[in-house]
Amino acid sequence: GDVFGCVADIGWITGHSYVVYGPLCNGGTSVLFESTPLYPDPGRYWETVQRLKINQFYGAPTAVRLLLKYGDKWVKKYDRSSLKMLGSVGEPINHEAWHWFYNVVGDSRCTLVDTWWQTETGGICISPRPSEEGAEIIPAMAMRPFFGIIPVLMDENGRVLEGNDVSGALCLAEPWPGMARTIYGNHQGFIDTYLKTYPGYYFTGDGAYRSSEGYYQITGRMDDVINISGHRLGTAEIEDALDEHPDVPETAVIGYPHEIKGEGAFAFIVLKEDVAHTKDVKEELRSIVASKIAKYAVPDHILVVKRLPKTRSGKIMRRVLKKIVTNQSSNLGDITTLDDPSVVTEILDAYQKYKMEQSASS
Ligand code: PRX
Repeated sequence: GDVFGCVADIGWITGHSYVVYGPLCNGGTSVLFESTPLYPDPGRYWETVQRLKINQFYGAPTAVRLLLKYGDKWVKKYDRSSLKMLGSVGEPINHEAWHWFYNVVGDSRCTLVDTWWQTETGGICISPRPSEEGAEIIPAMAMRPFFGIIPVLMDENGRVLEGNDVSGALCLAEPWPGMARTIYGNHQGFIDTYLKTYPGYYFTGDGAYRSSEGYYQITGRMDDVINISGHRLGTAEIEDALDEHPDVPETAVIGYPHEIKGEGAFAFIVLKEDVAHTKDVKEELRSIVASKIAKYAVPDHILVVKRLPKTRSGKIMRRVLKKIVTNQSSNLGDITTLDDPSVVTEILDAYQKYKMEQSASS
C-alpha cells in the first residue's frame, strides 16, 4: 500500500533500480518523476509528496543542498504528513544537508537513511536498518552492512585494518547476489579495477571510516584523498566542514600541487542567494575548517562560483575542477555526462578573474 518516491534520474542506476525493479518487485506503487526539483519552483518535490501521498522519499544530497538554499518556506507550504521515511544516496551527505532533510522535510519524525552502494553492487550495501526498533541512526553515516555484505577496511600496504576507529580503503570480503561480474567486452579491465588492488577482495574505490561503535561512514572516493604536509584527508571532510556555514550550501574541494606542502586544498563554494559579504564568509569558512579539522586543512584558495559542474545524476565532476586549477583546461577529457557543459566556461572565467586579482594584489 505504500507509495515509493525515488526522484533519481531514470537514466542512472538509482533510477532504474529504485524507481522500477525494486518497488515493482515488491508490489509497491512507484512514482515516476521526470523534471528538476526547481521547476516550476523549489517546492516541486514537496508538492509531489502532498499530491501523491508519498511514504518513502529517496533522493540525492546534491538536490537537498540545492533546495536548502531556497529556505524552508517551499517545504513548509505543503503537507508532508504521508512521509514515513527519507533516503539519501549517491554521495556522502554532509551534516548540514542531513539535518535540514531530517528536521525540515521530515519534521524530525521520519527515519532518514543514508544508503551506500554502487552501480557495480546492484543494490544498497551499507545502510541503517530502519525496521530495527529503537535502533539509533547517527547523522551522515551509512552505518551498517546489509545482510551478507562483509565490509573490510585496508591500510595503505594492503593489510586488513582490525578493530574500530580506523579509516581505510573500503573492500567487500565475500561475493553477494547483485555483484557485477564483468565489464562488457573487457573482462580483464574488470579484474584489474576491482579485484587486483587487494587480492581476494572486491575494491570499491571508496574510503571509509569505522567508528568506535563499529559503524561505517563513507568518506569519498579514494582518489579524492589529498595529502597536505603529510596529513591525509578526504576532500569530503573539508567539504563537510565548509558546508556547515549557513550561507554556503555547496562546496567542492580538490587537491592541487603545492610547492611547500606537497598538496594544498582549493575550495569552490556556492553561496546562498543574496549573500553580499563574500570576504567575511571566506574568513568564517577558514576558521570553521581550522576548528573542526585543523589549521593545515584550511584551503589556500576559496573561489565563489554560481554553480558546480555536475553530472546528470548530480555528482560533482571534480576532475574538471582539478584540470582548471592545474592549468589543463584545454584538455578536460570526456564531459558529455555534464548536466550543462556551459558551467565549465563560467567557472573558468571566475577562476581567471580570481588569478588576476591575486597577482594584482601580490
Ligand atoms: O563513491 C560512492 C558514491 O557513489 C559511488 C557510486 O556511484 P554510482 O555507481 O554512480 O552510484 C550508484 C548508486 C549509488 C560510490 O562508489 N556513493 C554512493 N552512495 C553513497 C556514496 N558515497 C557516500 N555515501 C553514500 N550514501
